[in-house]
Amino acid sequence: MSPKPAKEVTAMTTAGHVAIIMDGNGRWAKRRGMPRTFGHQAGVNALKRTVEAAPQLGIQWLTVFGFSTENWRRPASEVSELMGLLKAYVKTDLARLEREGVRVRIIGRREGLAPDILAIIEDAEARTAANDRFNLQVAFNYGGRADITDAATRFAEDLAAGRISRDEDPEIVFARYLSTAAGPSPDLIIRTSGEQRLSNFLLWEAAYAEFVFQDVLWPDYGPDALKAAVQEYLGRERRYGGVDADDVLAPG
Ligand code: IPE
Ligand code: IPE
Ligand code: MG
Repeated sequence: MSPKPAKEVTAMTTAGHVAIIMDGNGRWAKRRGMPRTFGHQAGVNALKRTVEAAPQLGIQWLTVFGFSTENWRRPASEVSELMGLLKAYVKTDLARLEREGVRVRIIGRREGLAPDILAIIEDAEARTAANDRFNLQVAFNYGGRADITDAATRFAEDLAAGRISRDEDPEIVFARYLSTAAGPSPDLIIRTSGEQRLSNFLLWEAAYAEFVFQDVLWPDYGPDALKAAVQEYLGRERRYGGVDADDVLAPG
């Protein structure tokens, strides 16, 4: 088989849903002799660049991992910096996102978040609810296991109460209980900083995602790195458990 020619990223050939594990802020700061919080601040600028670049590459859904259910294990000062940065990001960027047709959703556990953070999340979602040009999901206080556990609890309650039809495919019904229910599964999951693990991100949704690991530390991320990841994705062959169409022998 001859190698496939490299595809150029266009709005027609792209990954519809890209999810990013934004990693490496701490190491980026350490290399500069600065505190970890300096890296998180620079990471917000990388997020802004990436959110701007994604629709230009034809991406329709972008999910970013901002704070995991395990990140509470970090020092209180760092946790509070990360909470503050979410607030600051929404404060400075919400009006622009709203204007540019971006629908914002925050996925993850709401319990355990401070009232001011909850208010900001609800405001961002309400103000952008009518938008449909681009979908930005921020995973905040998100863990794949927590999300599946919470979904399973509510699913079991509804099943016991007879609110779930047994005629429908239970996998499809169950997925509606996840905090990612509004969107498609990710086509491409990117992790920066050279680490090659999921760290509890989108466990259910990642079933058939392609993975691209990039060495770049998150604060250095931007349009070129995103384009390179999508380019690599376009060279992959997705089979979903089936076989490549070229390998199916014609009958007879
Ligand atoms: C990613 O950078 C940001 C969050 C987890 C919120 P890190 O803070 O994990 O940076 P490293 O991995 O320590 O370099
Ligand atoms: C995953 O990164 C969480 C976010 C990017 C928000 P971590 O840096 O927390 O993951 P581990 O601890 O290296 O697995
Ligand atoms: Mg990390």
